[in-house]
Amino acid sequence: MSKVIDRNDIEMLVRRHLQDLGMDSEAIPKKEYIVAANWKMNMTDKETRKFLEEMKGVNIAEHIRVMIFPPYPYLYLFRDMLRYERIAYGAQDVAKEEKGAYTGEVSAAMLGDMGCPLTLVGHSERRSYYGDTSEIVAKKAKAALEHQITPMICIGETLEERKSHRYEQVLKEQLDAVYGELKDQVKDCLIAYEPVWAIGTGVIPTLKEISETHEYIHQVLVSYGVLAEKIRILYGGSVNAGNVRDIASVKYVNGFLIGGASLKADSFGNIIRLASEV
Ligand code: 13P
Repeated sequence: MSKVIDRNDIEMLVRRHLQDLGMDSEAIPKKEYIVAANWKMNMTDKETRKFLEEMKGVNIAEHIRVMIFPPYPYLYLFRDMLRYERIAYGAQDVAKEEKGAYTGEVSAAMLGDMGCPLTLVGHSERRSYYGDTSEIVAKKAKAALEHQITPMICIGETLEERKSHRYEQVLKEQLDAVYGELKDQVKDCLIAYEPVWAIGTGVIPTLKEISETHEYIHQVLVSYGVLAEKIRILYGGSVNAGNVRDIASVKYVNGFLIGGASLKADSFGNIIRLASEV
């Protein structure tokens, strides 16, 4: 695939040039990052209220977008408590069907009805424990978009797929399924790259691996030719305050999807602060 020059390259060149001229490179807007929390099946009503209260004390820089994906029962707390805050919230999954006899499912229409702006789809835990294939994930993303909900589509390879060098093929298959269903609407999605072997393990890929993989994902998106180069690609898997700055410095990393380290407002707030300093 051909090398693509993007906003990051141009920014870097301009910044360097201004520095060479002895001029203030701070005038250039900083790269925007999304700092997203996936709470998975954690937290209580009381803990959620406390978290949201504490988040009021967290200073969120202009170029940082914060998103939180709590369990379904707490979405209303987010809607009601966050109304005037700079934090977006979303569901962790959504049904691919519109409505009807699907016990246990929550439809995109329902999420849209309550004003929920975002949803995760295709998290590796949904793929591995609940049988969400890439085709199902694509249909869920489509259902979300039909109700003006932005899907954050999670993709990622297993350790075995990484070790056997099949990860590019796996990621491409996951993305192709989404493109096959959404076509030009793919540009309205967010992508979270989460290597399965880095989730909850404390092990993260090397920065070189993150860089190569994000660039690969970017190029696959560009190959669709539907302005998909504008899609934000987040990294997820064992992100914490100790590694967030390094990961943020990687090109094509536009944010983070954080599990364990997002469950306490002080830890999550610290990550938001660190990301804003990059
Ligand atoms: P951890 O940050 O706990 O590794 O979880 C990552 C994740 O799965 C976020 O969706």
